[in-house]
Amino acid sequence: MTSFAILVSGRGSNMEALAEAVRDGRLDARIDFVAADSAEAPALEKARKKGIDTFVLPYAAEGKKKAEEFLSGLCSTRRVEWIVLAGFMRILSPEFVRAHTGRIVNIHPSLLPSFPGKDGIGDAWKLGVAVTGVTIHLVDEGVDSGTILAQRPVEIHPEDTFEIVEKKIHDAEHALYWKTLSELFRGALPVERRW
Ligand code: GAR
Repeated sequence: MTSFAILVSGRGSNMEALAEAVRDGRLDARIDFVAADSAEAPALEKARKKGIDTFVLPYAAEGKKKAEEFLSGLCSTRRVEWIVLAGFMRILSPEFVRAHTGRIVNIHPSLLPSFPGKDGIGDAWKLGVAVTGVTIHLVDEGVDSGTILAQRPVEIHPEDTFEIVEKKIHDAEHALYWKTLSELFRGALPVERRW
């Protein structure tokens, strides 16, 4: 069965949505572990409660290079096939991305290439766009720039508050991520695996 790791930095609602899709059989795969870039990430406790192995990547204590070496070691000893970013707010180094080309997936809260970066929802809101959305893409050496696997638009209505828009985006993420991963893992997306 396909196994994947999830990388998180914060709340972990996407990680939870994926774990629920795995649990109820919508996503035919296994979550091998959840790793965070900080011990403070609330997602870690949520993963532990679901019985998933968790790790803290030593970004703070040892820096990016060591943290990525630790992650690569975990992925190879545990034979993880895919690395799934779910609110992971670090930029992976070109070396790490090259070593795992075509096997890292990210979710971003905008219709890329619009509004890349750390605050996709806030940037779209500030500009006053009528349509934003969600993108799932392969990670390449750029920032939020890899091959797009799936997108879902989200309309912003004049009466919407920022909180309403955030909720719409997160609902769209939770509905789209497991479905896209399911297609990707089954080889049903036209994406060339290059490793
Ligand atoms: C999600 O909206 C995700 O798309 C975004 O962080 C949030 C994490 O929420 N990721 C990025 O902005 C990456 N550039 P979660 O921790 O509740 O899943």
